Amino acid sequence: MIVCDCKEVTYEMILEAVRTHGANLEAVMEATEAGSVCECCLEEDCDKVDLPLPLAITQAAQTLG
Ligand code: FES
Repeated sequence: MIVCDCKEVTYEMILEAVRTHGANLEAVMEATEAGSVCECCLEEDCDKVDLPLPLAITQAAQTLG
């Protein structure tokens, strides 16, 4: 599941970043480089990706409990 198309960041990578850094957008962006190019994936309605970054972070935080 792609979260950032430009940097080829997957949901699994977001899950790992949230596990390490917490559900913090800036920290996850820094760790994965997601959202650093076109910034589409920072928007919840981005249609370039399967699961935009803010939604992926929320989902990862819920999964990790
Ligand atoms: S899709 Fe994430 S920066 Fe372009």
